[in-house]
Amino acid sequence: MIPSLEDRLWGPLLLTVKQQKEGLGRCSHCFAMEDSIELIIQDYCGVFPTSRPHPIVSTCTGAVLASLYGLWSVFTMPGFRKIPWHLKVPYLPSSKDQAQNVMKLLQGRRGRLADLGAGDGKLVFAASSAGFQCTGFEINSILVAYARSKAYWRRIPSSQVTFVKKDFWKTDLSSYNNVTAFLAPGVMELLGEKLLKELPQDALVISCRFPFPNWPQKSAVGSGLDQTFAYEISSVRSHLRNPPKIEMK
Ligand SMILES: C[S@@+](CC[C@H](N)C(=O)[O-])C[C@H]1O[C@@H](n2cnc3c(N)ncnc32)[C@H](O)[C@@H]1O
Repeated sequence: MIPSLEDRLWGPLLLTVKQQKEGLGRCSHCFAMEDSIELIIQDYCGVFPTSRPHPIVSTCTGAVLASLYGLWSVFTMPGFRKIPWHLKVPYLPSSKDQAQNVMKLLQGRRGRLADLGAGDGKLVFAASSAGFQCTGFEINSILVAYARSKAYWRRIPSSQVTFVKKDFWKTDLSSYNNVTAFLAPGVMELLGEKLLKELPQDALVISCRFPFPNWPQKSAVGSGLDQTFAYEISSVRSHLRNPPKIEMK
């Protein structure tokens, strides 16, 4: 029987340790425990590739990886050239659990909803089926076209769902009383400042995965990567106006 790679790697070492424990002190590969590992590696180094890969293989691998990266960035990054580096957020769709968590936090709410960075429209479609009048802001034209086509095939009227190819940083959000966002930790503080300036007092903000720093949460559901946070703008404003006093001992 041909030994597996694992057996070839670990077999002699385990044998050596076993023999050492049993007091034999020697094995076919070594004379003392101190040098046994070196000898084993010497004996078995044949299983590790020591020669360099062929230059053509390296070039082809590099070319394939570069093309894959190019394809990925064409799909996830168009429209990003005008956005400063520290505000760039790539496309990553919400998970099913994440979308369900958003819907739990939206229970009892109604009115207009803006999804900041709508991607393929997953959160927008979920919210629209619960009766919200939704606008998805998305900078990536491919994703906007895809989301619009989904709305078309599902026969959802534009009065209920609209996808706008627009940078949400440059959009006035004052007409929305519900905002959802699944972005990145590095943009949350700046986004918080924008929302505090623009949103009406009765607005609810829901953030997937990344909480707003220094904002008091109304509630949170889920755990780990699917954790989702809700904030009432009125509570956040009053909290920031009257921050709780820290008692000095
Ligand atoms: C993490 S994805 C979330 C997608 C979607 N909301 C979901 O939950 O499935 C973030 C999306 O925000 C978009 N985005 C990033 N910056 C943007 C901006 N300034 N304006 C509009 N969309 C933006 C990205 O293109 C990406 O599709």
